[in-house]
Amino acid sequence: MFFRIVLPEAKENDMNNLFDITKNGYYGQFGGAYIPEILYSNVENLKNAYLKILEDPEFQVEFHSLLRDYVGRPSPLYLAKRLSEKYGCKIYLKREDLNHTGAHKINNTIGQILLAQRMGKTRIIAETGAGQHGVATATVCALMNMECIVYMGKTDVERQKLNVRKMEMLGAKVIPVTSGNMTLKDATNEAIRDWCCHPANTHYIIGSTVGPHPYPDMVARLQSVISKEIKIQLMEKEGRDYPDYLIACVGGGSNAAGTIYEYLNDLRVKIVLAEAAGKGIDSGESAATIQLGTVGIIHGAKTLLMQTEDGQIEEPYSISAGLDYPGIGPMHANLAKTGRSEVLAIDDNDALEAAFELTRMEGIIPALESAHALGVFGKKQFKPDDMIVLCLSGRGDKDIETYINYVI
Ligand SMILES: Cc1ncc(COP(=O)(O)O)c(C=O)c1O
Repeated sequence: MFFRIVLPEAKENDMNNLFDITKNGYYGQFGGAYIPEILYSNVENLKNAYLKILEDPEFQVEFHSLLRDYVGRPSPLYLAKRLSEKYGCKIYLKREDLNHTGAHKINNTIGQILLAQRMGKTRIIAETGAGQHGVATATVCALMNMECIVYMGKTDVERQKLNVRKMEMLGAKVIPVTSGNMTLKDATNEAIRDWCCHPANTHYIIGSTVGPHPYPDMVARLQSVISKEIKIQLMEKEGRDYPDYLIACVGGGSNAAGTIYEYLNDLRVKIVLAEAAGKGIDSGESAATIQLGTVGIIHGAKTLLMQTEDGQIEEPYSISAGLDYPGIGPMHANLAKTGRSEVLAIDDNDALEAAFELTRMEGIIPALESAHALGVFGKKQFKPDDMIVLCLSGRGDKDIETYINYVI
């Protein structure tokens, strides 16, 4: 049974407003839409249309039949017995790595391409870091016969070559970005610039719960299929539909948002998120945005970001291209600030060790991003009767070169 417990400090507030988005697109003090004037009508049209489209029964039928027959959902909820034994608790893995294209990103791109079609858009642009969102976007564009342009930082083009080749094979044009430190932030800047030049015919498929309202909410809703399935699967396996803990990694926050969406206001469920500490949280080379960030505006949203005292964005660093971002989705900034989520910073080495551990103990090679979530087990003690669901957001094929170098 699902019920709500009111936090003591929330007495004066409506619980619905504490963690959920407001009509104006805010999670607490975070969110909103801070955009150049040229994009105003695009974002306004999207804001007025997205809920109507997403809730339309015809959209729902098409979305869910593609998730089932094309993506392969529901993704399994797998009890990792050896890992559970080692860490002395019950660990389930939500296997988003088994989705078509190898990560959770496809849930969002299927939804957004259907939305773009309904809004009469003919040209699709996207940003990508690890390349998983780029591949997922190129895939749905091939499926729907739409033009596809993907912006990707040159650093990421080099470290995620396999995904670049996949995008090209799928018919997308991959544009390497050479500004900044040539990673996800810089790719996002270029995608926004492109959108400003082609506002009429172009839909920008943002790959995470970032950007101006309504993107964070739209992406979270499209990814919420993850927690909807967890509820049903836990009920079947455990006779109760909620775990004690949910664990996920956060780059911009979409796999985490999908994993926690149905449990946001259910305080029996604790939320533990892993952000990238890079070479160490105090090393000056990290992407631990929640722990190091301060309030500012990045890519159209007010959120926490790594910035200098005079507001210049600090270049982030993580071994994982998908977590190498100086901002964080506004939903996660709010969850962390209100204490609803506990955020741990996992460094490159912890993540690599966790990736090898999962591979050797369960025969599953995880994506480097997901390996950060797995790194939580080395940092936090759980009790024997704790039931945990960890979102295994993607598979490790794209990271094999990094893994090989680590072994050597
Ligand atoms: C496998 C995988 N997991 C997680 C992420 C991080 O993104 P998000 O925080 O939006 O889930 C990425 C980003 O590229 C990814 O490829």
